[in-house]
Amino acid sequence: MPVARAFEERLTPLLPELAATYGTPFHIYDEAGIASTHTELAAAFGGIPFRQFFAVKALPTPAILEVLVRAGSGLDCSSPAELELATRAGAHGRDVMFTSNNTTLSEYRLAVNAGAYVTFDDIRILEHVDVLPDVVSFRMGASVFQSARDAENPMSDGGRSKFGIPVHAIKEAYSVARDRGGSRFGIHGMPIANVLDVDRFVAVATRLIGIAAELRDELGIAFEYVNLGGGIGIPYRTGDRAFPVRTFAAAVMDELRAAFPTDLPTIFMECGRYVTGPHGVLVTRISNCLVKETPTVGVDASMSALLRTGMYRNAYHHISSPLADSRPLVAVDVVGSLCENNDYFGVDRELPDPQEGDILLIHDTGAHGHSMGFTYNGRLRPGELMLTRSGEVVEIRRPEVFDDYTATVLWRPRTVLP
Ligand SMILES: Cc1ncc(COP(=O)(O)O)c(C=O)c1O
Repeated sequence: MPVARAFEERLTPLLPELAATYGTPFHIYDEAGIASTHTELAAAFGGIPFRQFFAVKALPTPAILEVLVRAGSGLDCSSPAELELATRAGAHGRDVMFTSNNTTLSEYRLAVNAGAYVTFDDIRILEHVDVLPDVVSFRMGASVFQSARDAENPMSDGGRSKFGIPVHAIKEAYSVARDRGGSRFGIHGMPIANVLDVDRFVAVATRLIGIAAELRDELGIAFEYVNLGGGIGIPYRTGDRAFPVRTFAAAVMDELRAAFPTDLPTIFMECGRYVTGPHGVLVTRISNCLVKETPTVGVDASMSALLRTGMYRNAYHHISSPLADSRPLVAVDVVGSLCENNDYFGVDRELPDPQEGDILLIHDTGAHGHSMGFTYNGRLRPGELMLTRSGEVVEIRRPEVFDDYTATVLWRPRTVLP
């Protein structure tokens, strides 16, 4: 979607100087927008105990995590490196959620020792675990939430999921935990990502709350929290409607009160995309107006800076040319420099008659953007900037250089087996 108006109004006048002095490409994020979206999400659930844990994987840059921690967010981690990052960003103990999958015992212990909430993604690890966490939580497998419409979602797993406990095993998982002395419980469910259909998300939340209530009744256990995961979508396309988070929260609160009239669990969420996605853009410059079968412009960023359009069928990022608005529109493909045929940011995009040197904005790169980047072809990841509340632009991650590209290389091989 077009970048938020407040961000656009503050960013556009800065672009010529920023591009000239800092150079392109770079991602830039809006501090005020990120903090206020977090606050609005938490406020929507104001009637009940609620906590949002930002999914670190979406934007694992310390300055952004610190903005969120200061705004009251917890952090959701999925690996030891993310746990360490969360600690360094100021999140400790119960400010941290650990929702991993295919987890090793040492990773599990690290999270428990950090005092984090831990979500078990599989029942097998229970056999290896010596000490249970004080609150035991399992992730529900996705099949129980599946809807025919999910097949259209670019991130759909097509009905085969590596995540969570299959529905036939969920009761056993909780009873094993209870028999091993577990007395405090949570439950997690996140079937799909980037959901804009509020009815669909309410149906998922209702199903999860219902499963928790059934487990309570059948096993005589109490739930301290229901974790709805992440997955709230953002309107990447201009015609998309924003997710009505207040309507969603109101429906979830009604379902929760109906299912748990006397012992209301806390609602947790682990949203990433919804919180930071719309508050970031990738700023890139047209390096070449190419001569191809179809009109094509090459920019100085590649899929290595934003994988989504190359990776997911149907993934879309709006592209604009804010400093050339007055020119007539021309439809072009926008490509990077990777030796890969999916290195496209957009196909048939109408832009003001593109010229070499024009600055383009690729929108909604605030989540799963830079963090999914890579260095294939030696096309190194760009830097990250933040537009602060006061209007200052600060660098929060520098662009990679050749020494980063080769940082793990042993120029002189080290003997491993003589
Ligand atoms: C377990 C878990 N929680 C939260 C998220 C965040 O999802 P989103 O950024 O779509 O809200 C993800 C995304 O992959 C996830 O796997």
